[in-house]
Amino acid sequence: MAILVTGGAGYIGSHTCVELLENGHDVIVIDNLSNSSLDVLDRIHTLTNKKVTFYKGDLLDRTMLETIFTGHSIESVIHFAGLKAVGESVEQPNRYYYTNLMSTLHLLQVMDKYNVHKLVFSSSATVYGTGNLMPLNEEARLSAVNPYGRTKLMIEEMLADHYRSNQAWRFIVLRYFNPIGAHPSGMIGEDPAGRPNNLMPYVTQVAVGKLPELNIFGDDYSTHDGTGVRDYIHVVDLALGHIQALKKTAEPGYHTYNLGTGQGYSVLDVIHTFEEVNGNPVPYRVQGRRSGDAAVCYADVEKAKKELNWEATRGLQDMCRDAWRWQVQNPNGYQKARSFQSN
Ligand code: NAD
Ligand code: WQD
Repeated sequence: MAILVTGGAGYIGSHTCVELLENGHDVIVIDNLSNSSLDVLDRIHTLTNKKVTFYKGDLLDRTMLETIFTGHSIESVIHFAGLKAVGESVEQPNRYYYTNLMSTLHLLQVMDKYNVHKLVFSSSATVYGTGNLMPLNEEARLSAVNPYGRTKLMIEEMLADHYRSNQAWRFIVLRYFNPIGAHPSGMIGEDPAGRPNNLMPYVTQVAVGKLPELNIFGDDYSTHDGTGVRDYIHVVDLALGHIQALKKTAEPGYHTYNLGTGQGYSVLDVIHTFEEVNGNPVPYRVQGRRSGDAAVCYADVEKAKKELNWEATRGLQDMCRDAWRWQVQNPNGYQKARSFQSN
Protein backbone atom coordinates (compact mmCIF):
# COMPACT_ATOMS: atom_id res chain seq x y z
CA MET A 1 0.00 0.00 0.00
CA ALA A 2 1.35 3.40 -0.97
CA ILE A 3 0.87 7.01 0.07
CA LEU A 4 -0.07 9.35 -2.77
CA VAL A 5 1.49 12.78 -2.32
CA THR A 6 0.01 15.52 -4.50
CA GLY A 7 2.45 18.40 -4.99
CA GLY A 8 5.23 16.16 -3.67
CA ALA A 9 7.93 17.94 -5.68
CA GLY A 10 7.20 21.24 -3.92
CA TYR A 11 8.80 22.76 -0.84
CA ILE A 12 6.83 21.06 1.94
CA GLY A 13 5.92 18.02 -0.16
CA SER A 14 9.56 17.15 -0.91
CA HIS A 15 10.52 17.29 2.76
CA THR A 16 7.53 15.13 3.60
CA CYS A 17 8.48 12.58 0.92
CA VAL A 18 11.90 12.22 2.56
CA GLU A 19 10.35 11.53 5.97
CA LEU A 20 7.79 9.14 4.47
CA LEU A 21 10.49 7.14 2.68
CA GLU A 22 12.62 7.09 5.81
CA ASN A 23 9.62 5.76 7.73
CA GLY A 24 9.33 2.88 5.29
CA HIS A 25 6.36 4.08 3.22
CA ASP A 26 6.01 3.56 -0.53
CA VAL A 27 5.45 6.98 -2.06
CA ILE A 28 3.74 8.06 -5.28
CA VAL A 29 3.97 11.70 -6.29
CA ILE A 30 1.77 13.60 -8.71
CA ASP A 31 2.97 17.09 -9.52
CA ASN A 32 2.60 19.27 -12.62
CA LEU A 33 5.96 20.94 -11.80
CA SER A 34 4.33 24.39 -12.16
CA ASN A 35 6.23 25.53 -9.08
CA SER A 36 8.91 22.88 -8.70
CA SER A 37 11.62 20.99 -10.50
CA LEU A 38 12.25 17.41 -11.54
CA ASP A 39 15.68 17.70 -9.85
CA VAL A 40 13.90 17.46 -6.51
CA LEU A 41 13.21 13.79 -7.15
CA ASP A 42 16.90 13.03 -7.74
CA ARG A 43 17.76 14.85 -4.53
CA ILE A 44 15.17 12.83 -2.59
CA HIS A 45 16.69 9.67 -4.05
CA THR A 46 20.23 10.72 -3.10
CA LEU A 47 19.12 11.58 0.43
CA THR A 48 17.13 8.45 1.17
CA ASN A 49 18.51 5.90 -1.29
CA LYS A 50 14.87 5.23 -2.16
CA LYS A 51 12.77 6.33 -5.09
CA VAL A 52 9.31 7.78 -5.28
CA THR A 53 7.08 6.77 -8.18
CA PHE A 54 6.55 10.00 -10.08
CA TYR A 55 3.68 11.13 -12.32
CA LYS A 56 4.06 14.47 -14.03
CA GLY A 57 0.46 15.48 -14.17
CA ASP A 58 -2.19 17.97 -13.17
CA LEU A 59 -4.93 17.32 -10.64
CA LEU A 60 -7.24 19.16 -13.01
CA ASP A 61 -6.79 16.14 -15.29
CA ARG A 62 -9.11 13.55 -13.75
CA THR A 63 -8.06 10.87 -16.20
CA MET A 64 -4.49 11.09 -14.95
CA LEU A 65 -5.70 10.64 -11.39
CA GLU A 66 -7.76 7.62 -12.42
CA THR A 67 -4.67 6.09 -14.04
CA ILE A 68 -2.77 6.40 -10.77
CA PHE A 69 -5.57 4.93 -8.66
CA THR A 70 -6.08 2.09 -11.13
CA GLY A 71 -2.40 1.24 -11.28
CA HIS A 72 -1.56 1.33 -7.56
CA SER A 73 -2.92 0.22 -4.26
CA ILE A 74 -3.19 3.53 -2.43
CA GLU A 75 -3.78 3.68 1.29
CA SER A 76 -3.86 7.44 1.96
CA VAL A 77 -3.35 10.76 0.25
CA ILE A 78 -1.44 13.80 1.42
CA HIS A 79 -2.70 16.77 -0.57
CA PHE A 80 -0.17 19.60 -0.96
CA ALA A 81 -0.79 20.54 -4.60
CA GLY A 82 -2.20 23.98 -5.20
CA LEU A 83 -1.41 27.60 -5.85
CA LYS A 84 -0.20 29.51 -2.80
CA ALA A 85 0.84 33.09 -3.57
CA VAL A 86 -1.41 35.53 -1.73
CA GLY A 87 -0.73 38.57 -3.97
CA GLU A 88 -1.19 36.54 -7.16
CA SER A 89 -4.50 35.22 -5.82
CA VAL A 90 -5.79 38.79 -5.52
CA GLU A 91 -4.83 39.47 -9.15
CA GLN A 92 -6.03 36.11 -10.53
CA PRO A 93 -8.90 34.96 -8.32
CA ASN A 94 -10.48 32.76 -11.01
CA ARG A 95 -7.26 30.79 -11.49
CA TYR A 96 -6.91 30.30 -7.74
CA TYR A 97 -10.52 29.22 -7.14
CA TYR A 98 -10.50 27.00 -10.21
CA THR A 99 -7.17 25.29 -9.52
CA ASN A 100 -7.38 24.83 -5.77
CA LEU A 101 -11.06 23.89 -5.58
CA MET A 102 -11.38 21.78 -8.75
CA SER A 103 -8.16 19.89 -8.00
CA THR A 104 -9.48 18.94 -4.60
CA LEU A 105 -12.91 17.99 -5.93
CA HIS A 106 -11.33 15.72 -8.54
CA LEU A 107 -9.20 14.13 -5.89
CA LEU A 108 -12.17 13.50 -3.62
CA GLN A 109 -14.23 12.03 -6.48
CA VAL A 110 -11.49 9.65 -7.55
CA MET A 111 -10.59 8.68 -3.98
CA ASP A 112 -14.22 7.85 -3.27
CA LYS A 113 -14.52 5.86 -6.50
CA TYR A 114 -11.47 3.73 -5.55
CA ASN A 115 -12.54 3.47 -1.93
CA VAL A 116 -9.61 5.43 -0.52
CA HIS A 117 -10.88 7.61 2.31
CA LYS A 118 -7.81 8.84 4.21
CA LEU A 119 -6.71 12.37 3.39
CA VAL A 120 -4.27 14.77 5.04
CA PHE A 121 -4.81 18.31 3.75
CA SER A 122 -2.49 21.35 3.75
CA SER A 123 -4.43 24.23 5.18
CA SER A 124 -2.98 27.41 6.58
CA ALA A 125 -3.07 29.73 9.57
CA THR A 126 -4.36 32.26 7.06
CA VAL A 127 -7.87 30.81 7.69
CA TYR A 128 -7.96 32.48 11.11
CA GLY A 129 -9.77 35.77 11.00
CA THR A 130 -8.52 38.96 12.56
CA GLY A 131 -9.36 39.94 16.12
CA ASN A 132 -8.72 36.52 17.68
CA LEU A 133 -6.77 36.24 20.92
CA MET A 134 -3.26 34.75 20.73
CA PRO A 135 -2.24 31.98 20.79
CA LEU A 136 -4.71 30.82 18.15
CA ASN A 137 -6.39 27.54 18.98
CA GLU A 138 -8.33 25.47 16.46
CA GLU A 139 -11.63 26.90 17.69
CA ALA A 140 -10.67 30.52 16.88
CA ARG A 141 -12.94 32.47 14.55
CA LEU A 142 -12.31 31.70 10.87
CA SER A 143 -12.39 34.18 7.99
CA ALA A 144 -9.92 34.72 5.20
CA VAL A 145 -8.97 38.08 3.73
CA ASN A 146 -7.79 37.08 0.24
CA PRO A 147 -8.78 34.56 -2.46
CA TYR A 148 -5.94 32.18 -1.57
CA GLY A 149 -7.07 32.05 2.05
CA ARG A 150 -10.68 31.64 1.00
CA THR A 151 -9.78 28.60 -1.12
CA LYS A 152 -8.30 27.01 2.02
CA LEU A 153 -11.38 27.85 4.04
CA MET A 154 -13.70 26.53 1.32
CA ILE A 155 -11.73 23.31 1.00
CA GLU A 156 -11.91 22.80 4.77
CA GLU A 157 -15.70 23.17 4.50
CA MET A 158 -15.83 20.82 1.50
CA LEU A 159 -13.98 18.16 3.47
CA ALA A 160 -16.21 18.60 6.50
CA ASP A 161 -19.30 18.20 4.27
CA HIS A 162 -17.86 15.02 2.76
CA TYR A 163 -17.37 13.62 6.25
CA ARG A 164 -20.92 14.57 7.23
CA SER A 165 -22.24 12.71 4.18
CA ASN A 166 -20.07 9.62 4.60
CA GLN A 167 -18.41 8.74 7.89
CA ALA A 168 -15.96 6.39 6.17
CA TRP A 169 -13.83 9.49 5.44
CA ARG A 170 -10.82 10.27 7.63
CA PHE A 171 -9.74 13.87 7.16
CA ILE A 172 -6.83 15.50 8.92
CA VAL A 173 -6.63 19.21 8.17
CA LEU A 174 -3.26 20.70 9.09
CA ARG A 175 -3.08 24.47 9.51
CA TYR A 176 0.54 25.39 8.95
CA PHE A 177 1.90 28.54 10.50
CA ASN A 178 5.08 29.91 8.82
CA PRO A 179 7.21 27.06 7.41
CA ILE A 180 10.85 28.03 6.85
CA GLY A 181 14.26 26.36 6.75
CA ALA A 182 15.39 23.38 4.75
CA HIS A 183 16.58 19.81 5.10
CA PRO A 184 19.80 19.87 7.19
CA SER A 185 21.70 18.25 4.28
CA GLY A 186 21.16 21.40 2.20
CA MET A 187 19.96 19.13 -0.63
CA ILE A 188 16.32 20.22 -0.71
CA GLY A 189 14.76 23.53 0.26
CA GLU A 190 12.46 26.34 -0.79
CA ASP A 191 12.99 27.52 -4.37
CA PRO A 192 10.70 30.46 -5.02
CA ALA A 193 10.26 31.58 -8.61
CA GLY A 194 11.38 35.20 -9.04
CA ARG A 195 11.58 37.65 -6.16
CA PRO A 196 10.47 35.96 -2.93
CA ASN A 197 7.29 37.11 -1.20
CA ASN A 198 8.07 35.51 2.13
CA LEU A 199 10.53 36.63 4.75
CA MET A 200 13.11 33.83 5.02
CA PRO A 201 13.87 33.30 1.32
CA TYR A 202 14.16 37.09 1.01
CA VAL A 203 16.60 37.16 3.95
CA THR A 204 18.79 34.40 2.49
CA GLN A 205 18.85 36.07 -0.94
CA VAL A 206 19.92 39.36 0.66
CA ALA A 207 22.58 37.59 2.73
CA VAL A 208 23.99 35.84 -0.36
CA GLY A 209 24.07 39.16 -2.27
CA LYS A 210 21.35 38.43 -4.83
CA LEU A 211 19.12 41.19 -3.45
CA PRO A 212 20.48 44.45 -2.05
CA GLU A 213 18.48 44.74 1.17
CA LEU A 214 15.45 43.45 2.99
CA ASN A 215 12.39 45.65 3.22
CA ILE A 216 10.87 45.38 6.68
CA PHE A 217 7.15 45.91 6.31
CA GLY A 218 6.41 48.18 9.27
CA ASP A 219 8.08 48.80 12.62
CA ASP A 220 5.13 50.46 14.30
CA TYR A 221 3.11 47.39 15.34
CA SER A 222 2.40 46.89 19.01
CA THR A 223 4.98 44.12 19.38
CA HIS A 224 8.17 44.04 21.46
CA ASP A 225 10.21 45.79 18.75
CA GLY A 226 7.47 47.12 16.46
CA THR A 227 7.92 44.52 13.69
CA GLY A 228 5.44 41.75 12.83
CA VAL A 229 5.48 38.57 14.91
CA ARG A 230 4.98 35.09 13.41
CA ASP A 231 5.19 31.45 14.44
CA TYR A 232 8.01 30.13 12.24
CA ILE A 233 8.24 26.35 12.02
CA HIS A 234 11.10 24.27 10.63
CA VAL A 235 9.96 22.49 7.47
CA VAL A 236 11.36 19.16 8.76
CA ASP A 237 9.23 19.43 11.92
CA LEU A 238 6.29 20.20 9.68
CA ALA A 239 7.03 17.16 7.50
CA LEU A 240 7.16 14.98 10.62
CA GLY A 241 3.74 16.33 11.59
CA HIS A 242 2.38 14.64 8.44
CA ILE A 243 3.75 11.27 9.53
CA GLN A 244 1.83 11.63 12.79
CA ALA A 245 -1.26 12.87 10.96
CA LEU A 246 -1.26 9.76 8.78
CA LYS A 247 -1.40 7.62 11.93
CA LYS A 248 -4.44 9.56 13.05
CA THR A 249 -6.30 8.53 9.87
CA ALA A 250 -6.58 5.04 11.39
CA GLU A 251 -9.97 6.15 12.77
CA PRO A 252 -12.79 7.88 10.88
CA GLY A 253 -13.27 11.56 11.60
CA TYR A 254 -12.64 15.14 10.56
CA HIS A 255 -9.94 16.83 12.65
CA THR A 256 -8.06 20.09 12.37
CA TYR A 257 -4.64 20.77 13.92
CA ASN A 258 -2.33 23.74 14.14
CA LEU A 259 1.25 22.94 13.16
CA GLY A 260 3.49 25.61 14.65
CA THR A 261 5.93 25.93 17.52
CA GLY A 262 3.70 28.05 19.72
CA GLN A 263 6.45 30.67 19.86
CA GLY A 264 6.28 34.06 18.11
CA TYR A 265 9.33 35.85 16.69
CA SER A 266 9.49 39.31 15.14
CA VAL A 267 11.09 40.19 11.81
CA LEU A 268 14.01 41.73 13.72
CA ASP A 269 14.35 38.59 15.88
CA VAL A 270 14.67 36.57 12.67
CA ILE A 271 17.26 38.94 11.18
CA HIS A 272 19.34 39.05 14.36
CA THR A 273 19.23 35.28 14.86
CA PHE A 274 20.16 34.74 11.22
CA GLU A 275 23.13 37.13 11.51
CA GLU A 276 24.28 35.58 14.77
CA VAL A 277 24.05 31.96 13.63
CA ASN A 278 25.45 32.38 10.13
CA GLY A 279 27.80 35.34 10.60
CA ASN A 280 26.38 37.14 7.58
CA PRO A 281 24.89 40.61 7.72
CA VAL A 282 21.35 41.20 6.47
CA PRO A 283 21.06 44.87 5.47
CA TYR A 284 17.50 46.15 5.80
CA ARG A 285 15.36 49.22 5.40
CA VAL A 286 12.09 49.87 7.20
CA GLN A 287 9.17 50.48 4.85
CA GLY A 288 5.47 50.98 5.42
CA ARG A 289 3.22 48.12 6.48
CA ARG A 290 2.26 45.53 3.85
CA SER A 291 -1.46 45.54 3.26
CA GLY A 292 -3.29 42.59 4.81
CA ASP A 293 -0.53 41.80 7.34
CA ALA A 294 -1.47 41.01 10.92
CA ALA A 295 0.72 42.35 13.75
CA VAL A 296 0.99 39.03 15.56
CA CYS A 297 0.15 35.42 14.72
CA TYR A 298 1.18 32.34 16.66
CA ALA A 299 -0.32 28.97 17.42
CA ASP A 300 -1.68 27.13 20.40
CA VAL A 301 -0.09 23.74 19.71
CA GLU A 302 -1.61 21.73 22.55
CA LYS A 303 -4.14 19.86 20.41
CA ALA A 304 -1.48 18.49 18.03
CA LYS A 305 0.71 17.59 21.00
CA LYS A 306 -2.09 15.70 22.70
CA GLU A 307 -3.86 14.05 19.77
CA LEU A 308 -1.09 13.62 17.20
CA ASN A 309 1.72 13.08 19.68
CA TRP A 310 3.68 15.64 17.71
CA GLU A 311 5.55 18.78 18.60
CA ALA A 312 8.18 20.88 16.91
CA THR A 313 11.68 20.36 18.30
CA ARG A 314 13.75 22.63 16.06
CA GLY A 315 14.29 26.24 17.07
CA LEU A 316 14.79 29.49 15.18
CA GLN A 317 18.57 28.98 15.14
CA ASP A 318 18.14 25.63 13.36
CA MET A 319 15.73 27.22 10.89
CA CYS A 320 18.19 30.04 10.09
CA ARG A 321 21.18 27.71 9.84
CA ASP A 322 19.42 25.23 7.56
CA ALA A 323 17.86 27.91 5.35
CA TRP A 324 21.31 29.41 4.88
CA ARG A 325 22.99 26.06 4.09
CA TRP A 326 20.39 25.42 1.38
CA GLN A 327 20.92 28.93 -0.06
CA VAL A 328 24.72 28.65 -0.10
CA GLN A 329 24.74 25.18 -1.63
CA ASN A 330 22.11 26.14 -4.22
CA PRO A 331 22.54 29.87 -4.90
CA ASN A 332 19.98 29.75 -7.68
CA GLY A 333 17.86 26.93 -6.38
CA TYR A 334 17.40 23.81 -8.44
CA GLN A 335 17.85 25.72 -11.71
CA LYS A 336 21.49 26.47 -11.01
CA ALA A 337 22.18 22.88 -10.06
CA ARG A 338 20.70 21.86 -13.41
CA SER A 339 22.88 24.21 -15.43
CA PHE A 340 25.98 23.09 -13.50
CA GLN A 341 25.18 19.50 -14.41
CA SER A 342 24.73 20.28 -18.10
CA ASN A 343 27.95 22.37 -18.34
P1 NAD B 1 4.87 24.57 -3.45
O1 NAD B 1 4.37 25.49 -4.49
O2 NAD B 1 6.34 24.48 -3.23
O3 NAD B 1 4.31 23.09 -3.68
C1 NAD B 1 3.09 22.85 -4.32
C2 NAD B 1 3.35 21.85 -5.44
O4 NAD B 1 2.13 21.57 -6.11
C3 NAD B 1 4.32 22.38 -6.50
O5 NAD B 1 5.34 21.42 -6.72
C4 NAD B 1 3.46 22.56 -7.75
O6 NAD B 1 4.19 22.31 -8.93
C5 NAD B 1 2.35 21.57 -7.51
N1 NAD B 1 1.06 21.90 -8.13
C6 NAD B 1 0.40 23.09 -8.11
N2 NAD B 1 -0.78 22.98 -8.74
C7 NAD B 1 -0.89 21.70 -9.17
C8 NAD B 1 -1.87 20.97 -9.90
N3 NAD B 1 -2.99 21.56 -10.32
N4 NAD B 1 -1.64 19.67 -10.17
C9 NAD B 1 -0.49 19.06 -9.77
N5 NAD B 1 0.47 19.70 -9.09
C10 NAD B 1 0.28 21.00 -8.79
O7 NAD B 1 4.15 24.97 -2.08
P2 NAD B 1 4.46 24.53 -0.59
O8 NAD B 1 5.03 25.70 0.12
O9 NAD B 1 5.18 23.24 -0.58
O10 NAD B 1 2.96 24.35 -0.06
C11 NAD B 1 2.32 23.11 -0.08
C12 NAD B 1 0.89 23.29 0.40
O11 NAD B 1 0.91 23.87 1.71
C13 NAD B 1 0.07 24.24 -0.47
O12 NAD B 1 -1.25 23.73 -0.52
C14 NAD B 1 0.10 25.54 0.30
O13 NAD B 1 -1.05 26.31 0.06
C15 NAD B 1 0.11 25.04 1.73
N6 NAD B 1 0.72 25.99 2.68
C16 NAD B 1 1.97 26.49 2.44
C17 NAD B 1 2.52 27.41 3.32
C18 NAD B 1 3.87 28.01 3.06
O14 NAD B 1 4.18 29.05 3.66
N7 NAD B 1 4.72 27.40 2.24
C19 NAD B 1 1.79 27.80 4.45
C20 NAD B 1 0.53 27.26 4.68
C21 NAD B 1 0.00 26.34 3.77
C1 WQD C 1 6.34 37.17 7.71
C2 WQD C 1 6.61 38.51 8.38
C3 WQD C 1 5.87 40.38 7.08
C4 WQD C 1 8.63 39.74 3.76
C5 WQD C 1 2.38 34.09 4.36
C6 WQD C 1 1.01 33.90 3.81
C7 WQD C 1 0.28 32.83 4.58
C8 WQD C 1 1.11 31.55 4.63
C9 WQD C 1 2.53 31.79 5.06
C10 WQD C 1 0.42 30.06 2.92
C11 WQD C 1 5.47 39.50 8.26
C12 WQD C 1 7.38 40.40 7.20
C13 WQD C 1 7.95 39.63 4.94
C14 WQD C 1 9.51 40.84 3.57
C15 WQD C 1 8.96 41.62 5.78
N1 WQD C 1 1.22 30.93 3.35
N2 WQD C 1 8.10 40.56 5.94
N3 WQD C 1 9.64 41.75 4.59
O1 WQD C 1 2.66 36.96 5.61
O2 WQD C 1 2.97 35.67 7.77
O3 WQD C 1 2.31 34.48 5.73
O4 WQD C 1 3.10 32.84 4.28
O5 WQD C 1 -0.57 29.64 3.43
O6 WQD C 1 -0.93 32.64 3.94
O7 WQD C 1 0.31 35.13 3.92
O8 WQD C 1 4.60 35.34 5.88
O9 WQD C 1 6.99 35.35 5.33
O10 WQD C 1 5.41 36.83 4.00
O11 WQD C 1 5.90 37.41 6.38
O12 WQD C 1 9.10 42.48 6.66
O13 WQD C 1 10.13 41.01 2.52
O14 WQD C 1 7.72 39.12 7.70
O15 WQD C 1 5.36 41.69 7.15
O16 WQD C 1 5.44 40.25 9.45
P1 WQD C 1 3.07 35.72 6.29
P2 WQD C 1 5.77 36.21 5.30
